Amino acid sequence: MVLAKTAKKTRRILGIETSCDETSVAILDVGSRVRLVKHLIASQIPVHQLYGGVVPEVAARLHVAETVGLLDKTVFDTRGDVLKGVDAIAVANGPGLATALRVGIDAARTLAWIGNVPIVGVNHLEGHLASAWLVPANRKRWTFPLLALLVSGGHTELILMNGFCQYQVIGRTRDDAAGEAFDKTAKLMGLPYPGGPQISKRAVHGNGARFTLPRPMRHDGSFDFSFSGLKTAVRNVWSSLSVVDQQDTHTVDDICASIQEAIVDVLVEKTIAAARAYRPTGVMIVGGVSANQTLYARMRTRMRKELPDVHVLRPARGFHTDNAAMIAAAGSWRAQVGAFDDWQTLDAEPEKDL
Ligand code: KG4
Ligand code: ZN
Repeated sequence: MVLAKTAKKTRRILGIETSCDETSVAILDVGSRVRLVKHLIASQIPVHQLYGGVVPEVAARLHVAETVGLLDKTVFDTRGDVLKGVDAIAVANGPGLATALRVGIDAARTLAWIGNVPIVGVNHLEGHLASAWLVPANRKRWTFPLLALLVSGGHTELILMNGFCQYQVIGRTRDDAAGEAFDKTAKLMGLPYPGGPQISKRAVHGNGARFTLPRPMRHDGSFDFSFSGLKTAVRNVWSSLSVVDQQDTHTVDDICASIQEAIVDVLVEKTIAAARAYRPTGVMIVGGVSANQTLYARMRTRMRKELPDVHVLRPARGFHTDNAAMIAAAGSWRAQVGAFDDWQTLDAEPEKDL
């Protein structure tokens, strides 16, 4: 880590995100007020759908194809002035797919070198936390400690945020992530990738009490999770059905609702228990699975009833899944304390932890 020698305040920050299946570039202004100046996301989901999931090599190649185009529309002005007005670059450098991360990192390093601006490698998970901070109403209630339920395709963690850049992971999944549980159970029923949005859409019409699915570790006293047993249970239910039942819309809707119930139930139960133990001022739900309406509604209802002083915060629509605005926002937190990196040595950290 390089501590900036100058006290020049970062005002306009370029964010770059290429850790998985979205290529995204953003410019965030953190001057007198926080303002998202530009934000572009190129989703690779239609391509990965052809393979039933993310293929790392394909993801990396698509990031190469998209990154320069998005930067061209974002930071290069018509006179060819590179990085006009940008005074820091934030790039997601892990966790994620190594070759995919490197595409964004190499673009960021090149721009930092050419433009002579500081660069900061951002933890993708910290980016998800910052996605909730981008909402003005949430910033008004942003008082530490905050508790975050981070639920994405690769992670399920309960994180206590004691200050900007100060985190304590108090619980995590011991096997599959919540998003992974949605994706894998959807796949075994033949539903397209990613499974979360598919299952939540179909669950609206289903009966979540029809199939009894396990809620592992729900009341075990820890703040850890386990979702791999759910996948096995759904596989057993699915293979016990006749082909006619497997093609019956109501039956599939009921399985989807039952899966969602099981996942939401465990996530809410553990988060409430952690909130009771750590007494945060607010609970934020972030990461791709936070787009799930049932999860948010259930969390709010329970919290209002059991811990009415604790606010429930979440990102704005369109900012739940991966995006560069959240990377720029987390980068601005790091920039405030001058925690920059060296452009010559910044590298991908596929297993990066908070
Ligand atoms: O944060 P994200 O975009 O990528 C990672 O960092 O992993 O999260 C993607 C995950 C996928 O597993 C996807 O199925 C899940 O978020 N997801 C949802 C919903 N929308 C996306 N899961 C449940 N309900 C949704 N509405
Ligand atoms: Zn993510």
